[in-house]
Amino acid sequence: MANVYTALATPNIAFVKYWGKRDGKLNLPNNSSISMTLSEEKLNTTTSVAFSAKLTEDVMFINGERQDIASPAAAEKSKFIQDILSLMKERAGMREHALVVSQNSFPTGSGIASSASGAAALSFLLANALKLDMQQKEISVIARRISGSACRSMYGGLVKWQRGELDDGSDSYAFQIADKDHWPELMDIVAIVDPGKKKVSSSEGHALTMKTSELYEARPRTAERHASAIEDAIKRRDFNEMAYNIMKDSNNMHATMLDTWPPIMYLTDVSREIIYSVHELNTAAGENIAAYTFDAGSNAHIITTEKHEKDVMDMLKGMEAVRNIISARQGDGPRMLGDGDALITPEFLRLKGLEI
Ligand code: DP6
Repeated sequence: MANVYTALATPNIAFVKYWGKRDGKLNLPNNSSISMTLSEEKLNTTTSVAFSAKLTEDVMFINGERQDIASPAAAEKSKFIQDILSLMKERAGMREHALVVSQNSFPTGSGIASSASGAAALSFLLANALKLDMQQKEISVIARRISGSACRSMYGGLVKWQRGELDDGSDSYAFQIADKDHWPELMDIVAIVDPGKKKVSSSEGHALTMKTSELYEARPRTAERHASAIEDAIKRRDFNEMAYNIMKDSNNMHATMLDTWPPIMYLTDVSREIIYSVHELNTAAGENIAAYTFDAGSNAHIITTEKHEKDVMDMLKGMEAVRNIISARQGDGPRMLGDGDALITPEFLRLKGLEI
């Protein structure tokens, strides 16, 4: 059996959102964004790869299901994955086909960015397995091409993805603003209200909002302002100021979504109930002790500090529609795992009728 390499990456939650691309093929954003990489206990993607002359094409499984990456009729995301795979193999002079097996610990397409951790795990894994001498920054550019927000999962702690100016995207990469020890008290409490797949994929949403929303015109400069304020607040560990900008940015992005035609509405009545409750909590405390933020889904991410974890938990526990609560802290970014964690095993190969 061929050598198997395995890596793990985690999702990130955006404090300033990426919504709208100036180049849809390279995933170049209209504005910079900032995020917190989540810790791995509950939310992670593990990905294994092996290269073998016994394979007749590149083969990929996500959550046990074979993906159609090699055929010309493959979905756009799958084509990006195939392009990246081909590009990195070529760079390493690897002629054998790859078997990639990826598994998320959480539901795909539910507003918890499985595409970010998946693309980050794959890019990091390929760079290491193929022994490519690449800087983290360069790997983040590769991950970005599969899914924009994935470039931010290439680092632990608090991360910025700078917009960049160049048309080839080489200056649109992520870097770490602060490692997790800078502000270790930060937490993301994820309230799962809908574990289902989202109705409009983020890739479709980015394009439709840019095309049809009149409000979007103001979005890039508003987001840049939020990004500067948050970067500054992170440096000073000013939670009140950071929380204000996190909430404003989420609301601003969702306003452009509602202004899209036909409208995109990821937020539901439960999401709105959570928004109101966080405002009540903050009003009662006399300052912002928690901030809600929503990606392309109805699940709420509530950013808070250890000190106020219980207040947020008590608030969520009173809500019937909240089906599951996951607490995460800041993670370390992607890492290689040992053979014991490999997803490509003799048992897996037997089950799928494959030989490597
Ligand atoms: C709302 O990174 O999923 O989560 O580049 O098309 O894969 P693609 O989009 P994606 O968009 C994420 C949008 C968001 C905000 C964010 O994470 O910044």
